Amino acid sequence: MSLIKSEAEIKQLREGGKILSSVLKKVAKQAKAGVTTNELNDLAERLILMAGGEPSFKGYGESNNPYPATLCTSVNDEIVHGIPSDYILQKGDIVSLDVGMKYPRENGLYTDMSVTVPIGKIDRSTKNLIKVTKQSLDIWLKNIKAGKNLNDIAKLVQNYIEINGFSVVRDLVGHGVGHDVHEEPQIPNYDSPHFDLELKEGMVLALEPMVCLGDYRIREKRDGWTYATLDGSLSAHFEHTIAVTKGGCVVITK
Ligand code: MF3
Ligand code: CO
Repeated sequence: MSLIKSEAEIKQLREGGKILSSVLKKVAKQAKAGVTTNELNDLAERLILMAGGEPSFKGYGESNNPYPATLCTSVNDEIVHGIPSDYILQKGDIVSLDVGMKYPRENGLYTDMSVTVPIGKIDRSTKNLIKVTKQSLDIWLKNIKAGKNLNDIAKLVQNYIEINGFSVVRDLVGHGVGHDVHEEPQIPNYDSPHFDLELKEGMVLALEPMVCLGDYRIREKRDGWTYATLDGSLSAHFEHTIAVTKGGCVVITK
């Protein structure tokens, strides 16, 4: 499959992205103290099925341990791929809600999106972590454009995160998306010249900076999916699917 999507494909991706974004907005609104992450997952799944889409994370991965849910719910020190459970969200938590969909269900295309939301009141540094992570995704969106170099933008993103006193995850990266949940190219959020690539019109990319309050090193939990910070510090994550254009990008998950 080509990394470059046609105009017709981008049109279809935008339809799906619009639905996915409204699904995530509704799920994020229900993320409150007293609610379990399972309940948020069930809501996301219902909304996706009702809209004529298919949850793309559910069943993804190796057949001996496929991802079991529609939504990823990564709480506090968890970075990404947290599995929904009977955990009851409590005041002071932060939770990354990450969702992917194939749309339409037959011969569909894939989009991917996440936000990190606070549960009740959170302290100032945690608020700032969420704000800076969101702004680091905005740096991607503002700078991406056909002809530009991927690593030049990644350097800006890393620099912004680090001047704010946070660290950026190295071992997990963004990715191409559209014909599958994950496609080439890989999109690091830090300076990595060996990943260098020139952006081309029609590339569809999932940009997803993952930012930590402490050290950027990660560990995998025993469920074989959840990634958390090694030092137990908080982490935030925002993601959009975008299409590269001549003059910039269109946000598919808008
Ligand atoms: N946005 C996440 C990612 O790109 C979600 C994938 S969850 C998985 O890695 F289960 F599909 F892997
Ligand atoms: Co992704």
